[in-house]
Amino acid sequence: MQSEEVLDGIKKINKLVLASTNPNKIKEFVDIFSKNTIDIIPQSKFGINATNEKHITFIENAIEKARHISRLTNLPTIAEDSGLCVDALNNYPGIFSARYALLDKPNSRISNNNLLIRNLNNIDNRKAYYVSVIVFLNNPDDPTPLISEGRLYGEIVDEPSGNNGFGYDPHFYLPKFGKTIASMTMKEKNLISHRSIAVGKLINKIMHA
Ligand code: IMP
Repeated sequence: MQSEEVLDGIKKINKLVLASTNPNKIKEFVDIFSKNTIDIIPQSKFGINATNEKHITFIENAIEKARHISRLTNLPTIAEDSGLCVDALNNYPGIFSARYALLDKPNSRISNNNLLIRNLNNIDNRKAYYVSVIVFLNNPDDPTPLISEGRLYGEIVDEPSGNNGFGYDPHFYLPKFGKTIASMTMKEKNLISHRSIAVGKLINKIMHA
């Protein structure tokens, strides 16, 4: 069980280390957490490189990333594992989203998008969702990680549009808004995204821990 002192510490948090080296994700997290006056410090500020993601679930990957960075910084840490799950592809690319086309080379955005569209050739069902799983650890040996999940549902379109966002955003269409996420500003995306939903739930858990 966590002591009163630790719980009190969680509630007073005003800065968190973010276990991520993805500059686009970091920008979104900084903006989303700024509403709660929590400063986000990316792991690169501590000179820590990316960690391997070797598990088969988002949650396991997120816990491992958070624990690793919290151990190296000895600070409260959050980590996110996120991805695109496509209905007709059996929820692929899922945990492999960053390295879909080139399994050993992350962030090959164009080849990932091309492979996605090729794999959906002649498939009518274009339903997909983004998922963000976030883990908060008060310290590296925290036995009660706080975990939250957010999803954003949409459709994959063949023609990319928009220059904002990252990853699969040019192909991720939101019928309700009549545009792709890449056609939204970051502020617009952050009002509705899987990431902002997960952060909202996490803040709530931190406040009520
Ligand atoms: P992670 O760093 O392992 O969580 O990789 C997540 C990958 O999922 C990213 O590299 C993207 O390919 C994809 N992804 C997750 N969230 C988003 C998003 O908000 N927009 C576009 N692609 C995303």
